[in-house]
Amino acid sequence: MKIPAHGKSKDQIKTELEAFSGRDLSWRDGKTLAYIYDGGADVEEIAKWAYMRYLTENGLDPTVYPSMMLIENELSAMAAAHLGGVPGVVGSFTSGGTESCMLAVKTARDYARAMKPHIKEPELVLPVTAHAAFHKACHYMDVKKVLVPVDTKTFKALPEAVEKAITPNTIQIVASAVSYAHGVLDPIEPIAAIAKKHNVLFHVDGCIGGFLLPYFKRLGAPLGEFDFRVPGVTSMSMDWHKYAYCPKGASVVLHRSKELRRFQMYAAADWTGYTIINPTIQSSKTGGPMAAAWAVLNFLGDDGYMNFSKRIYGATNTILDGIRKNAGLRLLGEPDLNLIAFTSDEFSCYHIIDEMKARGWYVQPQFGYHGSEPNVHLSIGQNVFDNAQEFVAALNDSVEAAKPKGFSQLAAKVKSELSRMNPAEFKPAMLNDLMRAAGIEDGQLPRKSAELNQILNVLPPKVTEFALIEFMNERYVYREKK
Ligand SMILES: Cc1ncc(COP(=O)(O)O)c(C=O)c1O
Repeated sequence: MKIPAHGKSKDQIKTELEAFSGRDLSWRDGKTLAYIYDGGADVEEIAKWAYMRYLTENGLDPTVYPSMMLIENELSAMAAAHLGGVPGVVGSFTSGGTESCMLAVKTARDYARAMKPHIKEPELVLPVTAHAAFHKACHYMDVKKVLVPVDTKTFKALPEAVEKAITPNTIQIVASAVSYAHGVLDPIEPIAAIAKKHNVLFHVDGCIGGFLLPYFKRLGAPLGEFDFRVPGVTSMSMDWHKYAYCPKGASVVLHRSKELRRFQMYAAADWTGYTIINPTIQSSKTGGPMAAAWAVLNFLGDDGYMNFSKRIYGATNTILDGIRKNAGLRLLGEPDLNLIAFTSDEFSCYHIIDEMKARGWYVQPQFGYHGSEPNVHLSIGQNVFDNAQEFVAALNDSVEAAKPKGFSQLAAKVKSELSRMNPAEFKPAMLNDLMRAAGIEDGQLPRKSAELNQILNVLPPKVTEFALIEFMNERYVYREKK
């Protein structure tokens, strides 16, 4: 495909882009329980205005765009006040949770290089429930990830397992407030005490839970301490683009002190161009997400967020109740916030996803790992509140429809084949056969994904990762329209 020889009209472009989006997940009806954080029409309107106002400003150099530094500093101050109000805490605006987590690890790695030069092979201690963003950080920054088991009933990190994993090479411990998969709050205080005792940094990942937790506490949820008020917590991440209802591309990473944040920053003066000084990963960057985040926070205010939190709290309790009352379902852990994982012992829970989709709902599959069985994940936003009863009814119907479908024979076959093989001998050609058997022909995803998910679930993680990369690498290729 080439750039069109002649420019198209604005109308033509709008029509074409609208047509592209025709197959995308629709979310405005409050029936999408993952990916989307919908604050409603007013929030969208002010966010879009602010985003467009700052779309073309460049955050590369705050000396020429001082307003962007002002906005960022106000956002960081609000984040620090929200997460403990401890003097000295500083932050940086980032493009999302992954960047915030990666920068926390980068800070720890470079801090160790300066302060603990004996460490040649840095290690990160990571409960298996910590977000994959930390795996990515280790992968990108050549830090060894040391995975530690969690309690397989509560899915909370085990302080004693964390302590056992610490070695002279440990640079940082991570815990979640809350974990994405099961929505549970790790025991932050005991882990922070361990971090302090061993003189290692401790990052609390509040990307998804950090913003809501203080509101749920105010609503009476029995939650432990999790923020900078806990001595030993040295950094935190919190996403504006999740339950603060700001547009995507908005998160914050906070450090206990400026001295620590110094290790996050990057400067380069030994080249022929302009001097680079980047606090975060991006260099040139639009001011859109930052301005939109500032606008949404100021538009909703604390009382607006409290109102949203009440709706989330209410919807979560209605849905939890519905799951508990359905004998065909079983919760994995007891969520501390609005993120739920459940499974079934009678049939593959992945059938529920297809059944819910047929009824107009989007819910998310999660694979089994380390005691967390294959499950269905729900992220419950304020927009689900009005539909919560309807959701429970659709879920009950879906369970009845899924029951006769049982478990995949094919996945069982794959599992037994795999048990005879050394995962190291797994060949790409075999994977293609497996995928074909699961229903992927000519690049078309099967409409019923339950079988595919059951197969992916039985593959060893390394093989699943290989399969996913193959799959995406194949899909991100331009194909002429027939
Ligand atoms: C706990 C946690 N950390 C990190 C992330 C990564 O955030 P993002 O998708 O914004 O990169 C997520 C995303 O859901 C999360 O739940």
